[in-house]
Amino acid sequence: MGKVLGISGSPVKDSNTDTLVKTILESTGLDQDFVKLSEIEVAPCRACKKCAYTNQCVWDDDFKWLSQMVLDADALVIGTPVMYGSASGFTKAFIERLWSLRHVKLLTQGKIGATAVVGWVSTEDVINWLNQVMMVSGFKLVGSVIGHGSPGCFTCGPGETCSYSIWNSLKKTYKILESSSIKNQPESMEKVKEIEKMMDSQENIYKGYLEELADNDPLKNPSYNVLKCISVKDQPETMEKAKGIGKLIYAKLKSKE
Ligand SMILES: Cc1cc2nc3c(=O)[nH]c(=O)nc-3n(C[C@H](O)[C@H](O)[C@H](O)COP(=O)(O)O)c2cc1C
Repeated sequence: MGKVLGISGSPVKDSNTDTLVKTILESTGLDQDFVKLSEIEVAPCRACKKCAYTNQCVWDDDFKWLSQMVLDADALVIGTPVMYGSASGFTKAFIERLWSLRHVKLLTQGKIGATAVVGWVSTEDVINWLNQVMMVSGFKLVGSVIGHGSPGCFTCGPGETCSYSIWNSLKKTYKILESSSIKNQPESMEKVKEIEKMMDSQENIYKGYLEELADNDPLKNPSYNVLKCISVKDQPETMEKAKGIGKLIYAKLKSKE
């Protein structure tokens, strides 16, 4: 009755992104394929524009067969983790290559689409971007889901004590600002302003983490442990949402018959 293709842009084995994409796929109950971009070769677009008249990318890598899978599918589910405030590089490269399908003819026009994003910070930005991309590619979006995963600094090993890890770097900034030696020196006012500006932007960027880790001191407080093994499977609302999206895809495709 319809075929659904799920694509994950997470390079992590059995990742949270994979889980959300697979949950959506499984809930459709339809014929389905799952592709993990990190296991194949899909390079970024080289902007050669040779696809303009043919709707075919000339670059010789796995996008050749993957694009055919996209065209054969009635619905596409794309999931990505947040990396540096945007989609993963794997996801971005794939999206760029989709450009070849939208010249002169919009080959993906009318297909059903759904999106999933995993992270804490900038998840809304990433999902909005992904949804926008799907819409300009002619997909009819039936839903999006955002889940939380473990922040990289809580799982990398040295991140707990590393001075560049998200919370330690923020804490350091606060300490510098609080130190009267800087505040009381008029010649340091420029420095204070610079730090304040940095703090403002960091506070926004790390708001999600700080809300979760209110004490912001992993060495003294064990609260960070909860952030070490976060799984979307333990987020019932997120899982329900993903299942609901799968059911919606089924309903949409059935109504097309
Ligand atoms: C290089 C790198 C950059 C990251 N940047 C962000 C970020 O900007 N915002 C965020 O919320 N999480 C960030 N993370 C954390 C991942 O989004 C998080 O680990 C997520 O759970 C991964 O999902 P996955 O389990 O599906 O791979 C980053 C992780 C890595 C490895």
